[in-house]
Amino acid sequence: MNKSYFIYTYGCQMNVHESEKLAGILSGMGYIEAQDVSDADIIVMNTCCVRETAETKVYGHLGRIKSQKKPGSVLAVCGCMTQQQGAADRLVKRCGFVDIVIGTFNQPRLCDYINEFLHTGTRIVEVWASENDGDCAETSNVKRSSGINAWVNIMYGCNNFCTYCIVPYVRGRERSRPIDDIISDVDGLLSDGYKQITLLGQNVNSYSYKDKTFIDLLKSLESDKKYRLKFMTSHPKDVSPELASLMAQSKTLAKNLHLPVQSGSNRILSEMNRRYTREQYFDKISRFKQEMPDIGLSSDIMVGFPTETEEDFVQTLDLVERVKYNNLFMFIYSRRSGTPADKMPQLDYATKQKRIDRLIKFQFEISKAVAAEKIGKVYEVLVSDKTDGKCYGKAENDIAISFKSDTVNVGDFVSVKVASAKNANLTGEVI
Ligand code: 5AD
Ligand code: SF4
Repeated sequence: MNKSYFIYTYGCQMNVHESEKLAGILSGMGYIEAQDVSDADIIVMNTCCVRETAETKVYGHLGRIKSQKKPGSVLAVCGCMTQQQGAADRLVKRCGFVDIVIGTFNQPRLCDYINEFLHTGTRIVEVWASENDGDCAETSNVKRSSGINAWVNIMYGCNNFCTYCIVPYVRGRERSRPIDDIISDVDGLLSDGYKQITLLGQNVNSYSYKDKTFIDLLKSLESDKKYRLKFMTSHPKDVSPELASLMAQSKTLAKNLHLPVQSGSNRILSEMNRRYTREQYFDKISRFKQEMPDIGLSSDIMVGFPTETEEDFVQTLDLVERVKYNNLFMFIYSRRSGTPADKMPQLDYATKQKRIDRLIKFQFEISKAVAAEKIGKVYEVLVSDKTDGKCYGKAENDIAISFKSDTVNVGDFVSVKVASAKNANLTGEVI
């Protein structure tokens, strides 16, 4: 019988895609996916450390896996958490039952580590500080599990050093993949039938390979084949008016922009080292709205950053009210050891909690209003799921719409007229 694997993934889309690569490596070794962790011969925990909650969850989860795993199975922990200063040592001390601990840069070599462990039975702990050859180590065999969408990394790492963020420390400096490799990956995926490609990077706008920019890359990915092209994440200091024009003209690019603002207060933005002001952010958003009046906008916002006052927070509410995002990811600031913000004067937990509750309520009403404005409009929906004749998909501006149809299939592009909105959920009819 085939040996099997089970992978747990914490964190962002980047990690979800990394896990698809880990699954590809394990499949290449002859392992099949287990239905349950207790059946698996190899268990991989792909971790995140952007916020403290993610780390706490990983430790709790590892404790549960200890009692679920079958005797002789191999437990490997990788991902951002293991890459933090001292974290691998802490993990090894706290969890004697973990067999393999590797860092983010070691992941493409998972196969070697497993073989070595199976051969020697000796615990492996290896966390490189960077890629061995300073290049983008890309795995060729990816086992995709995101339906009609395929993720494609265009770059790795981040040079921005926002003062709250651990990412530059655990993912290293920016490095971009060769443009021809990306183009051929996308071509291959379209031939395989994928209908949506999402380009991934911590800061996609600073993609740079030889003389090629992010705009060049997007232009190269325009195609006569029908598909939708998305990208994340953008940095407000780096998005250009050129990007807005290109998105407006393109048949391929989705008309949505995820542009994390983090705060609406100039003082806090400066403390965060974000390198833009709220005025500059508004200017950029206006440009995109001018080019695409029905553009879908989303953002990340953090409340309770060190020294954030009520006035600063009100500025955030004001920005949120003006921009009118259709989707907002809201976080409580979380201290990350080794980052500059960790040494700044901290806010108490109750204040942070009250602010996030206020922001969530505030945005809920905005999302409702933004959704109600869509009634009567017609969108091209890319169908991603269908259950019992009920279809779900996203419009070109990333708003989610559900509708009934017996004839439409997953992967189809269909014209749908929005008929009603319940809170932020839109329902439509095929026309
Ligand atoms: N605490 C809380 N949220 C954070 N993020 C990044 N670092 C932290 C932190 N220390 C949020 C930011 C970022 C998103 C991916 O996670 O909003 O855009
Ligand atoms: Fe972190 Fe800032 Fe880089 Fe985003 S841009 S990954 S928030 S340091």
